[in-house]
Amino acid sequence: MRIAIGSDHGGYEYKQEILNYLNVGGYDVKDFGTYSKESCDYPVIAKSVAKSVAAGESDRGILICGTGIGMSIAANKIKGIRAALCSDTFSARATREHNNSNVLCLGQRAIGDKLALDIVDVWLKTEFSGEARHQRRIDMIEE
Ligand code: RB5
Repeated sequence: MRIAIGSDHGGYEYKQEILNYLNVGGYDVKDFGTYSKESCDYPVIAKSVAKSVAAGESDRGILICGTGIGMSIAANKIKGIRAALCSDTFSARATREHNNSNVLCLGQRAIGDKLALDIVDVWLKTEFSGEARHQRRIDMIEE
């Protein structure tokens, strides 16, 4: 699976931890930055990752900022993106099964690092249910 990942300074440490997890797991990863803890603007990173997913260059995206909120707002502006901000594994599983979310957003200042990795693991490994009612609702989002 091809994964696009990005963070701002507020999510930099978790991005590096998640990168390690993805590399160990054998994922094909493209890191869109940021590459240091220096302050930067989350919409720039969010749009780069979201556009990579929307263009089909990446299968899924992962975005981290302080809260995860700015990243999710910005990513969801890109057509075809269904970005889900998750702080628990139940939501991570449900948003894959029901929303077929293609971008996961996390808040480094909101949740612990082990929980963040669990959320990533569940989200990456859960397939969309494919059920007609869920597909119909997803289609409505794009109308
Ligand atoms: C940066 O201080 C912070 O605003 C950003 O990481 C994010 O939480 C925005 O939603």
